Amino acid sequence: MTQDELKKAVGWAALEYVKPGTIVGVGTGSTASHFIDALATMKGQIEGTVSSSEASTAKLKSYGIPVFDCNEVDSLDIYVDGADEINHQMQMIKGGGAALTREKIIAGVAKTFICIVDESKQVDVLGKFPLPVEVIPMARSYVARELVKLGGLPEYRENVVTDNGNVILDVHNLTILNPIELENKINSIPGVVTVGLFANRGANVVLMGTAEGVKTIK
Ligand code: A5P
Repeated sequence: MTQDELKKAVGWAALEYVKPGTIVGVGTGSTASHFIDALATMKGQIEGTVSSSEASTAKLKSYGIPVFDCNEVDSLDIYVDGADEINHQMQMIKGGGAALTREKIIAGVAKTFICIVDESKQVDVLGKFPLPVEVIPMARSYVARELVKLGGLPEYRENVVTDNGNVILDVHNLTILNPIELENKINSIPGVVTVGLFANRGANVVLMGTAEGVKTIK
C-alpha cells in the first residue's frame, strides 16, 4: 500500500468515533483531508464541525458541512487530526502544514484527540522532523536566538504566513527526550505563539495505518 492509501484507511476508520448529533473537531493536512471525505458521508447526521485551518474550512464547506466558530462551542466530543511524528507516549510533533496553533486550541477543547497517522510517523524519540514554532513576525530573530540556546537550529519557513498572520520557524537538530519540558520552555519565550509539540495534551487514541491494516492504540 502507498503512504496515501494508509492515510486514507485511517481517515475513514476515524468515522466510527463520530457520534450523530455532535460537533466534530477537524484537523489539517493530507490525512485529515481523507477524514473530511469520510465525514461528508455523515453530513446529515452531525450538527457540524470546528475547523483548524482555512484549508480544512474550505473543504468542509465545499461538501456543505457546517463550520462553527470555536467560540460558539463549549466542548467537543472528539478532535481528529494527523501528526508529523508520534511517540509511544502519544505525544506528537505537529505543524508541518502550519496550522499548529488552531490545532492545539481545538485539541484543548476536545475531550478525545484521535490521531490518524500512517506507520511512518511513529518514532521512539521525537525531533527528527523539524519542530514547527509559530512566532509573531517582529520576534522572529529573537526567538531564533533563544531556540539556538536550547540546542536547536531554527530555519525560517520562507513564503509562509499562518492563518493567524504569523511566521514559522522549523527547528532542526533536536532530540526531544523530555517533550513536556521542552514544550513548556519554548512556549515561555516571548513572541512564541505556539510550539508544535503536543506533549502536555497528547492523543487519547491513535489509529495507525499499517500494511496489516489499521491498528488502534489507546
Ligand atoms: C498540520 O499543521 C499538521 O499538524 C498535520 O497534522 C501534519 O503535518 C500531518 O500532515 P499529513 O496528514 O499531511 O501528513
